[in-house]
Amino acid sequence: MIKIKTEDEIALLRENALMVSKTLAEVGRNIAPGITTMELDRIADKYIRSLGAEPGFLGYDGYPYTLCISVNDTVVHGFPSEYKLKEGDIVSVDCGTKYRGFYGDSAYTFPVGKISDEDRALLEATKMSLYKGIGKAVAGQRTGDIGEAVQSYVEALGFSVVREMVGHGIGHNMHESPEVPNYGRQGHGVKLREGMVICIEPMINAGRKEIYLDDNGWGIRTVDGKKSAHFELTVAIRHQAPEVLSTFDFIEKNQ
Ligand code: CO
Repeated sequence: MIKIKTEDEIALLRENALMVSKTLAEVGRNIAPGITTMELDRIADKYIRSLGAEPGFLGYDGYPYTLCISVNDTVVHGFPSEYKLKEGDIVSVDCGTKYRGFYGDSAYTFPVGKISDEDRALLEATKMSLYKGIGKAVAGQRTGDIGEAVQSYVEALGFSVVREMVGHGIGHNMHESPEVPNYGRQGHGVKLREGMVICIEPMINAGRKEIYLDDNGWGIRTVDGKKSAHFELTVAIRHQAPEVLSTFDFIEKNQ
């Protein structure tokens, strides 16, 4: 069953989306060589609570932290740890909020100091593929149109799409129907309708698409050890154009 949200519900999802967006910017301001990923987790936790919200991931399916922090070959669901970020790393920060019964969920992959041209290209391609997917997030299109847009864009650049994890609807639950794969075929999948709210979140690998589960039971890593990037935004489905509820502007425009 896919829930169609009322305007009031979309307003609450927008509030969550903005809180997550601001939290990612706060984390981003602190990313530099030498900081541990656990320190970033503490910063986010404090910031979310200062906004009057709760961390959306903490305790979700037993997840033990506020953020998922996935460095280099970790695709998603990395545990914050005593690892100190170092120049040249790329670090995906995935953040959730819960506020007034609704969830926010957004992710951004940050460079740590100066990174290689190849890694820069991976980050740019992954973020651009998210915007390509968002471009298809309009009533009447299908989830396969989103997936195809993401997949064709990144594969043309020589990158690969992780298959096992997908985007999702969001509302009273962090993960609702429909699933939103980052691969697919035009005209296939679930038809999008006005009032659906979905998270699109491409997970793109520099090398092969295959992944494995880390010993800690959560972290997802690339089999070939190459780097992976992840960006996520929340979109309300409308008739004319996608309404993007979360934003990277706080991160990128230093707002
Ligand atoms: Co998500």
